[in-house]
Amino acid sequence: MNIQKTVNLEDYGKKLSGKTRDFYIVKDKRTIISTDRISAFDKNLGYIPHKGQVLNQLSAFWFDKTKDIIENHLISVPDPNVMIVKNAELIPIEMVIRGYITGVTGTSIWGSYEKGERIIYGIKFSEGLSKNQKLPKPIITPTTKAKSGHDQRLTNNEIIKQKIISERIYRQMEKATLQLFERGTRICEKSGIILVDTKYEFGIYNNKLILIDEIHTPDSSRFWIKNTYKEKFLKGIEPENFDKEFLRIWFKKQGYVGDGKPPIMSKEIISQVSNRYISIYEKLTGKKFIANSKIDIAKRIKNNLKLLK
Ligand SMILES: Nc1ncnc2c1ncn2[C@@H]1O[C@H](COP(=O)(O)OP(=O)(O)O)[C@@H](O)[C@H]1O
Ligand SMILES: [Mg+2]
Repeated sequence: MNIQKTVNLEDYGKKLSGKTRDFYIVKDKRTIISTDRISAFDKNLGYIPHKGQVLNQLSAFWFDKTKDIIENHLISVPDPNVMIVKNAELIPIEMVIRGYITGVTGTSIWGSYEKGERIIYGIKFSEGLSKNQKLPKPIITPTTKAKSGHDQRLTNNEIIKQKIISERIYRQMEKATLQLFERGTRICEKSGIILVDTKYEFGIYNNKLILIDEIHTPDSSRFWIKNTYKEKFLKGIEPENFDKEFLRIWFKKQGYVGDGKPPIMSKEIISQVSNRYISIYEKLTGKKFIANSKIDIAKRIKNNLKLLK
């Protein structure tokens, strides 16, 4: 199995790395290489074969499906694992939007609710909600995009008061977030999928607000299977999920929820997660996932990028 760990592009300048992606900035463009690294609980947990390609190609699919709502950063996809994008000035806020109340850890929305909190992110939650219940309408729960460690919760008022961005831009972000989530929900539904929650990142490019990063991927969203949701919800069992929650639940079963050194993923869980990433890509796009397991992915990336020069 060929795993995409990282790529060094000698003539692209300094390599920068996030938790899952490597990138190079050349003038006003950013070359983003999606790797197979996986993180959860803000920790690096190892590698999931094909994950980078799924994320890259799924984001490209969604950028195309939503470009009438807001301009996005995508310029081209020169390789299954690579996206060339407009390099924006990042707005350090993650616009999280949720249609359901859920979560695994004590700091999740469900975790807070379970402990008795009824005002979360400055939003009032009604009594009597159960885990994984649909909310009356989607809610936006923004967090700061922390340089390291955990993201911090924010209320709308804090964003405006702390002058992280202007109110005018924030309102544009809110509007786009609601519209993107509505579009995503509708397209997922057609494939028998519930878009449970997701997060968007925005940036400023040429003095304009644009959508950046990734969109509606299993790393940035929760996806549940629609036709078994109700039955499972009524029985109080977890919905069938096709996102990172599957892995978080596995870690929780091993007694790990983010503190200290994470246990090593078993071969079985790695292959189950990989299959789920591929499966959600195929369900949503209606396309067959073409895995290039036999070739050296780093070499292919270098070749495809060389052709551009
Ligand atoms: N078009 C863009 N302009 C500027 N920054 C971007 C753009 N698209 C994505 N980013 C940033 O690039 C990084 C992508 O790498 P990733 O591995 O997702 O990092 P992280 O660990 O911060 O999630 C993120 O910090 C993201 O905010
Ligand atoms: Mg990220």
